[in-house]
Amino acid sequence: MELRITLLPGDGIGTEVTEQAVAVLEAVCHNFHHSLKTATGLFGGVAIRATGDPLPPESLTLAKSAGAVLMGATGHPDFDTWPPEKRPEKGLLRLRKELAVFANLRPAICFQALESFSPLRSDIVQGTDMIIVRELTGGLYYGTPRGIKRNGEASVVNTMAYTQTEIERIARVAFNLARTRRKLVTSVDKSNVLENGQLWREVVTNLGAKEFPDVKLEHQLVDSCAMLLVTNPRRFDVLVMENMFGDILSDEASVLAGSIGMLPSASLGEHTGLYEPVHGSAPDIAGKGIANPLGAILSAAMMLRHSFGLEAEAHAVEDAVKKAIDSGIRTRDLKGTASTSEVGQAVVTALTDREPDLQRAAQRSAHG
Ligand code: NAD
Ligand code: IPM
Ligand code: MN
Repeated sequence: MELRITLLPGDGIGTEVTEQAVAVLEAVCHNFHHSLKTATGLFGGVAIRATGDPLPPESLTLAKSAGAVLMGATGHPDFDTWPPEKRPEKGLLRLRKELAVFANLRPAICFQALESFSPLRSDIVQGTDMIIVRELTGGLYYGTPRGIKRNGEASVVNTMAYTQTEIERIARVAFNLARTRRKLVTSVDKSNVLENGQLWREVVTNLGAKEFPDVKLEHQLVDSCAMLLVTNPRRFDVLVMENMFGDILSDEASVLAGSIGMLPSASLGEHTGLYEPVHGSAPDIAGKGIANPLGAILSAAMMLRHSFGLEAEAHAVEDAVKKAIDSGIRTRDLKGTASTSEVGQAVVTALTDREPDLQRAAQRSAHG
C-alpha cells in the first residue's frame, strides 16, 4: 500500500517529535512492505515568518490532497502578544475547520511501567484507560458573534454555539467507540448554568436511547468531571464534550499518563484525518533535543489505524512504544536522561524486535 502523508512539523518541539514519528513510520512501512511518501508544508510561527500566514495556501493544498496529515505543534512566544486572528494557533484552527475534522480522539492511558511517574498516587492512576472525544470544529472556539469592542468602555464576546446535528454526529462517534470498548459513555456539559449544556444533554440522551440502547450513558457536569478525573480515573471509558471543555480536560488527563508528552490524538471527519500530539511547542525545552516523542509516535499509530485501516501496523507501533518504555528508556519529563532521538530509535529497535539492542540502548541512557 502507498501511504501519502503531509507533514506539518510547525514550531518548537513540533519539528523534533515529528522527525521521530516519521522514523517510526519508515520502519513500520519497511516491515510491512508499504511505501511511505511524505511531503512537508510550512505551518505555524515558522510559516508566518516566511510568508506572513500560519497556514499558507500551498500547505493547505498539500494537507487536503494527502491520505493523512501528521502535525507537530504550533505556537511561539514571539507571537504571544499578537491578536488571536494573527497568531500561529489560528493556522491550526483553520486547518481543523478546512479539513472538517469535527471529532478529536484523545486517549489517556496509564502504562504500567509509568504508574509511579504521575504526580498522583499509583493506586489511583493504575489501570486508567479512557478516551476523550472532543468536539473540534464548533462550540466556543468558533461561535459568532465574537470579538473585542474598544470604542467607549471595552467589551468582549465569545459564543458557545452548537446545532443538534453537530451534537448528534460527535455523540455518535463516542457511542460507536464505546461499543468497541467497555460500553460506557460519559457526556460532559454545564447544563446547570448554560443553555448550551441543556441542549447538549437532551440531544445526547435522545440519540443514546434511539440508536445505542446497548451502551450505558451517564452525564457529568464539567466541574465535577474535572475532579473525578483525578480522584477516580478508572471509572471512565469514553467521554464526549464541547470543544473547549475537551481542550482543558485532556491536558488534565495527561497527568494520568505521567506526562503530556505521552498523549496522542486523531482528528477525524469525512475526508483527510489530522494527527497531532496533544502537547504544544514547549518553548521552554525547544531546541534541546529532550522532548518526549511518544505522543507524536502514538499519533502516527492512530493514523495507521484510522486513515489507512492498518490495524496490525498500528498495533505493532503501540507494542513497540510499550517495549521501549518497559526497557527503561525515558526522556526527562519521565525522570529519564534519554534524548528525543534515543527514544525514537528505541521504538524503531523494538519494532524490528532487536531485544538485545534495546537493552544496550537502555543501559546507555541509564548511564548517560
Ligand atoms: P505545552 O504543551 O507546549 O507545554 C506545557 C509543559 O509541558 C511545558 O513545561 C513543556 O516543556 C512540557 N511538555 C510539553 N510537551 C512535552 C514533550 N513532548 N516532552 C516533554 N515535555 C513536554 O503548552 P504551553 O506551554 O501552554 O504552550 C506553548 C505553546 O504551544 C503556546 O503557543 C500554545 O498556544 C501552543 N500549543 C500548541 C498546541 C498544538 O499545536 N496542538 C497544543 C498546546 C499548546
Ligand atoms: C490543543 C491546543 C490548541 C487548542 C491550540 C494551540 C489552538 O491547545 O490542541 O489542545 O486549543 O485546541
Ligand atoms: Mn490544548
